Amino acid sequence: MIRILVIHGPNLNLLGEREPGIYGLSSLAEIDEMIRQRAAEIEVDVRISQFNSEGEMIEEIHAARDSADAIVINPGAFTHYSIAIRDALASVGVPTVEVHLSNIHAREEFRQKSVIAPISAGQISGFGAYSYVLGLEAAKKLREE
Ligand code: DQA
Repeated sequence: MIRILVIHGPNLNLLGEREPGIYGLSSLAEIDEMIRQRAAEIEVDVRISQFNSEGEMIEEIHAARDSADAIVINPGAFTHYSIAIRDALASVGVPTVEVHLSNIHAREEFRQKSVIAPISAGQISGFGAYSYVLGLEAAKKLREE
């Protein structure tokens, strides 16, 4: 079975109460449930984690070297400036799909740049919680090709 690691970045633990006009009303637990359901339907093995700190997120990415066939990541604000997260993803060589709840290209200028996108297989942005479902499907497709 294809093993997919889903990583949520900083502040995403507050989904549901955090700026609901932008990020929606679903809690992270509800989104994780949606991801798990879809994973079962498309028969992929999924592991999900959330990190508020960059170092812990980097350690999880390093561990993916041996434990994941693809990564689906919403790096949160790290998207826009963390060369360390980008380097970690590039170092492990596990294909990555970048996802965002909001359409980062339609928001403030500082959100329109992703340092993760150039080392990702692709980016999914703007479909709310469904971005993760699309990300999961994209990640599976990557490993089937
Ligand atoms: C986000 C967009 C980022 O700009 C922001 O910092 C987030 C969430 C999204 O999913 O839309 O934390 O990654």
